[in-house]
Order: sequence, then C-alpha cells, then structure tokens
Amino acid sequence: MTPKLILTGFMATGKSSVGPIVARQLGWEFVDVDMIVTARAGKPIAQIFADDGEAHFRQLEREAVVQLTSDRRRCPHCHGPFPEVISTGGGVLVDESNCVALKRVGVIVCLTGRPEVIAARVERSKARRPKLTEGGKPTLARVKELMDERADAYARADVQVDSSDLTVEQLADHVIGAFGVHAARRILPPA
Ligand code: S3P
Repeated sequence: MTPKLILTGFMATGKSSVGPIVARQLGWEFVDVDMIVTARAGKPIAQIFADDGEAHFRQLEREAVVQLTSDRRRCPHCHGPFPEVISTGGGVLVDESNCVALKRVGVIVCLTGRPEVIAARVERSKARRPKLTEGGKPTLARVKELMDERADAYARADVQVDSSDLTVEQLADHVIGAFGVHAARRILPPA
C-alpha cells in the first residue's frame, strides 16, 4: 500500500527537473498539476494569470488536484493505490483543501531552497512566473516576501528537502529517501 509521492515547494526549487527522474527511478508514472491546468485552459500559466486572473488559475489548480486525488486506479502488482509521482506548482499548499486531499493519497515532499539560490535560478531561467513579478520588486526581495507569506503552508508538508546545494541526481536520491521513511512510518506506525 505505497502512497503516492507528492512533490511540492517554492518556485525554482527543482520540482520539474527532479520529478521525472524520481518517477523513472521508482518505475512510477509522473504527472504535473501545472500541465493539467495549462492543457485544460489551452494556454500557458502566465497567460491564464494575465487574461483570467489568479483566482481562476487557483480554481483550475484545485480542480486538477481533485481529479488526481480521486484516482481509482489500483497498482497492478499489489492492488494498493496506483503508484505515481505528482508534481505541483509552488502555491498548491496555500489552499488547505488541496493539502488535505493530497495528504490523503500520498506523502508530501516539499522542496526548499535558500532565497539567494532561488532568486539566482529565477534570474537565469526563461520561465515566466507571475507571482514573482507581482509588485515590481527586485527578485530576491519578492522571493523572501513570498517565502515568508507561505512558510505556514509549506510547514504542512510531511517532509522538507533543501535543494540549494544538491545536483539534480543527489536531489532525486534525497527525495526518494525522505519519501521512503515517511511512507514506511505511515504503513507501519510506531508501536
Ligand atoms: C506558482 C508556481 C508556479 C505555477 C504558478 C503559480 C506559485 O509553478 O503554478 O505560476 O504560486 O508559486 P512552479 O512552482 O512550478 O514554478
């Protein structure tokens, strides 16, 4: 009865890079909440924010979480829950209903990173991140501000893994290790 592995955490902590590697190593399927949202909306996330607003994006995100957490498929080997790595956008845990639904089906591994490292990754990347350009602040200031705002939400995860000083291969090992410990505790609670 292995639960699903839910990968979340602040933007640019490495979720999209490490998620498919973790899934490949476990031999599980990989699914990404943001990909479901963009497919359903028919446009990129930055465009959803610009055209329809953040509230609409969050609604699509909630619907994607409901879809993924209502998965009735069973593992063909053990007949337990269907094994899967679910990667989410960085804001998913802010909505407590998402957190409750995801915890019901899996272990939530939250990636973290030092603000300076995250800001540098954001500056290097071409991805458009509407939550970080909000307010027109310098990237590092905005990263720190949003991390502070979300500290309580990220603390709801089962386990945190700091990606700041790890290669993507090392990060994959840490994520699988942290997941394994928590999954085992859930299956075999302490006597
Ligand atoms: C968001 C993070 C993004 C995406 C959207 C909102 C957030 O995903 O879901 O732009 O609120 O932190 P990544 O964390 O994959 O960049």
